[in-house]
Amino acid sequence: MSKLYRPEAFVMPQGIYMDGNSLGLMPHSARRAVERRLNDWAEQAVMGWDRWFDLSETLSPQVARLVGAQPDEVISTGSITTNLHLLISTFYRPEGERRHLLATELDFPSDLYAMRSWADLHGAELRLIPSRDGQTLHPDDIAAAITDEIALVLLPVVLYRSGQLLDMPRWTEYAHAQGCVVGWDAAHSIGALPHNFHDDGADFAVWCTYKYLNAGPGAPGGLFVHERHLGTMPALRGWWGNDKTSQFKMAGDYERGAGAGAFQLGTPGILSLAGLEGALEVYDGVDLQELRARSLELTELLMTLADEQLPEMQMVTPRDPAERGGHISLQWEHNKQVSLALRARGIVPDFREPGILRLAPIPFYNSEDDVRRTVQVIREIVDSGEYREIVDGGAVS
Ligand SMILES: Cc1ncc(COP(=O)(O)O)c(C=O)c1O
Repeated sequence: MSKLYRPEAFVMPQGIYMDGNSLGLMPHSARRAVERRLNDWAEQAVMGWDRWFDLSETLSPQVARLVGAQPDEVISTGSITTNLHLLISTFYRPEGERRHLLATELDFPSDLYAMRSWADLHGAELRLIPSRDGQTLHPDDIAAAITDEIALVLLPVVLYRSGQLLDMPRWTEYAHAQGCVVGWDAAHSIGALPHNFHDDGADFAVWCTYKYLNAGPGAPGGLFVHERHLGTMPALRGWWGNDKTSQFKMAGDYERGAGAGAFQLGTPGILSLAGLEGALEVYDGVDLQELRARSLELTELLMTLADEQLPEMQMVTPRDPAERGGHISLQWEHNKQVSLALRARGIVPDFREPGILRLAPIPFYNSEDDVRRTVQVIREIVDSGEYREIVDGGAVS
């Protein structure tokens, strides 16, 4: 068994949990950290701020390691969507012909809403890199869309539906060569694989912490701003981004904080931050290359078994390990019912329209047996026709 396998570090449900790419399981260390912060509040009331004031900043070294950044290039704050607004407002500078925004037609809707907001505000276009197969992006199409009319391009590190992994150094370099600012959404890659945001030279990046990082529902997300931009004034400012040493002088003039922390807005949610504080302990001492290697072993097994045993389902995740993240996606018209039938059998998968069953074997708490059992139960559900009995109850979270 892999030494990364530590289900005892988590509150494990009955059955098999394959949905860590949507909401990671609760680490005991996260619960303890939240309880600690609750006790601070109970015992110290407002004096607790002595401990909480720079809690986000104190987490930065651990977060920075996960994304290959320097500690002052990252901050834990907001959500992906709010962080996108903060960063686009600052780094989107349309000028002359170079005025449009570029995303991909396979992006998570909130990224598109945020990007379109800024296109609308500036009377510009949000252009979308098309997908040939509706699941993945072809390198030629990415290259063709990044032109000298694009001011800012936002790309997903791992596509949320298909699990395709984009070549971050390649596209960062390419976009820069075309004169564009480039930002990345690492929602589906942080905690699943190593990153090198600093060396790759990304201008900015955003992520959430409730998926692979297990920090809890609605835990604060994170943002990265490359060192070369740390002197840039955030376009949208709040007192929590003020320099820490003068924040409580309550001056009318904003004094920019030194690092990416300058992009914070208001008072952080300390109890949610505590979830992240505790969850990060799980990663202490974990070699991210080993974690990635183990994740690839598990997804490889899953793909092989799905190929053998689930021929009616189309594998939409790229087979090349260099092109896939931490989850596997199978498409079949009845997969919404299949995913509900799986839950009824004690196996929690993930589902996204249209017909995409997403399965994420997590090295910390999933084993080869979990993978085998999951594929076997899907086969049984399909063969028995029990999925047909499932009434479509609307949205599947
Ligand atoms: C790829 C991607 N981008 C953005 C979001 C939205 O994140 P948030 O709700 O933290 O703004 C999600 C949420 O799952 C996501 O998967």
